[in-house]
Amino acid sequence: MTPKQKIIIDCDPGIDDSLALIYAIKHPKLQVVAITVTAGNSPVELGVKNTFTVLELLNRLDIPVYQGASHPLSREFVSAQDTHGMDGLGENNFQLKSDYAVQEISAQQFLANYFEKKRQTSIIALGPLTNIAQALDLNPSLGKNCYRFISMGGSYKSHGNCSPVAEYNYWCDPHAAQLVFDKLGKKVEMVGLDVTRSIVLKPNHLEYMRRIDEEMTDFIRKITRFYFDFHWKYEHIIGCVINDPLAVAYFVDSSICTGFDSYTDVVTQGIAMGQTVVDHYDFYNKKANSHILTQVETNLFWIDFLTVILNAQKSLISDDLNFLKLG
Ligand code: RIB
Ligand code: CA
Repeated sequence: MTPKQKIIIDCDPGIDDSLALIYAIKHPKLQVVAITVTAGNSPVELGVKNTFTVLELLNRLDIPVYQGASHPLSREFVSAQDTHGMDGLGENNFQLKSDYAVQEISAQQFLANYFEKKRQTSIIALGPLTNIAQALDLNPSLGKNCYRFISMGGSYKSHGNCSPVAEYNYWCDPHAAQLVFDKLGKKVEMVGLDVTRSIVLKPNHLEYMRRIDEEMTDFIRKITRFYFDFHWKYEHIIGCVINDPLAVAYFVDSSICTGFDSYTDVVTQGIAMGQTVVDHYDFYNKKANSHILTQVETNLFWIDFLTVILNAQKSLISDDLNFLKLG
């Protein structure tokens, strides 16, 4: 039995963050060491509450939660509550069964302390990179001492989702994103819109999922309803792009995506603020600091994602998805 891979998830729950948390926490190949929360989709206090909502659902309140940045390094904070709801979870206003406490030290301090020495633990960042940037300031060896660093964010050739060229996580805090790409000291494995836009949760997925695990699907249906409406209104699609779970799936099995190494920089001001400038053709002649994903085998994503979150047999899910053409 291969040992579970240790991960710390830095996130901004957030609807798709919550789906990624469910997927990672239930995954048989992963051990979620801790969850660190940053402002992003929701104000950080709401992100913490939404994290506890997911941990309560999974009965995994043993996983420590650390509260991090309440605003970007220097920009004013702009949430994505228009997309995720004022409560950050699709306007369901879930009530927690108890008052849960975050850990005493900040997310940034926890990350800096944890990576004071080499660890076989990876970081999967699903939100703006403010916590990571501030932890790097506290501990410049953080990148060297973590095993892998995965970031859902940015885009190479795909259009932006909060400006013509910028993806939300890096637009929300472009200075943090630039600092991480520049100072991490290992490649940022960037799971950008070029690949996440192919991961669209559709009504037929929910109809199928309901038949396998009604309780889990009921929660997912509740939190994605608002997200479906947003996507119809602004992207004119029936369904919703679930970006963050792909970052987890890619960490578990990087063969589901293809990509290339490149030097990447992040625009921090002006009309293109938050854009990832991917130097694929090496104009700047700089050392590659990122691995940029360009294609994904969506069927392989859905098989693993649904197998894990629905506690199902992989063979059943695989056969059904192929038969129902849901991949
Ligand atoms: O642009 C999509 C990303 O921004 C996702 O991580 C979503 O949760 C938001 O944080
Ligand atoms: Ca997110």
